[in-house]
Amino acid sequence: MSANASKPLIETRNLVKKFGSFTALNGVSLKVYSGEVHALLGDNGAGKSTLIKILSGVFPPTSGEIAVEGEVVSFASPRNATEAGIGTVYQDLALNPLTSVTRNFFLGRELTRFKSPFGLLKMGEMHQIAMQEMKKIGITISDPEQAVGTMSGGQRQTLAIARAIYFGAKVLILDEPTSALGQKQQMEVLKTIRRVQKLGNIAIILITHNEIHARLIADRFTFLSLGEVIGEGTSKDLEGDDIKRLMAGGAKIGDLAKELAI
Ligand SMILES: Nc1ncnc2c1ncn2[C@@H]1O[C@H](COP(=O)(O)OP(=O)(O)OP(=O)(O)O)[C@@H](O)[C@H]1O
Ligand SMILES: [Mg+2]
Repeated sequence: MSANASKPLIETRNLVKKFGSFTALNGVSLKVYSGEVHALLGDNGAGKSTLIKILSGVFPPTSGEIAVEGEVVSFASPRNATEAGIGTVYQDLALNPLTSVTRNFFLGRELTRFKSPFGLLKMGEMHQIAMQEMKKIGITISDPEQAVGTMSGGQRQTLAIARAIYFGAKVLILDEPTSALGQKQQMEVLKTIRRVQKLGNIAIILITHNEIHARLIADRFTFLSLGEVIGEGTSKDLEGDDIKRLMAGGAKIGDLAKELAI
């Protein structure tokens, strides 16, 4: 747990998002602190992706506020959100499998010797930075010219996370980072997340359907159901049963059993 847990790095206040007459988020407030993993949990359709898209500038909220380090911000585009220090790693990772680790790491932000986009690339320096940044959070790449398509799923996740951090993410949003991976690679990604957590200056929002992963790694939980927060707390506040129940949208196991009785 971080020492500066008193002031959230990012906070949402009463966010509402309507799509036409449908309310996808109905007053969502949450606080995310640096050095913490904040698990955002909830069933399909709960509003997790909608919330993330608002935080990452994909679309604006209908009402409500976002504050970064206490300052209210509004994003006209994903670029604005990135500039404010919000780095989102989407499930598809936005990587090009055919080009090298280093090329993917810099992607459009290459270091050049001259100020033109066609200036000579400082390839050696770029290789070094890419390798060093990935090593900080857990993977050692022997060949930075290796095509990303030849990396494991876990390594790719780490590359995308290292890239977001290097380019200034203070808030790292991870959308189901383990869902498409096998057991071993899932653990690799959890270790990466733990290393970022330990850096201490980054706030992580982790969206997952995996209760075990959430319990293993999260410091704080917010449970969404049909656009509303139905529970929240720290890992100390919540018992395993609470987590299970809240993940199922707040239903009691007995009620679910009844529902099954056809
Ligand atoms: N662009 C849109 N237009 C209309 N309705 C939308 C739009 N985006 C999301 N919704 C609706 O908002 C609700 C919340 O969707 P959202 O994708 O945020 O859920 P989620 O929690 O991410 O679910 P999942 O776990 O399946 O990814 C859903 O009922 C969805 O159909
Ligand atoms: Mg979603």
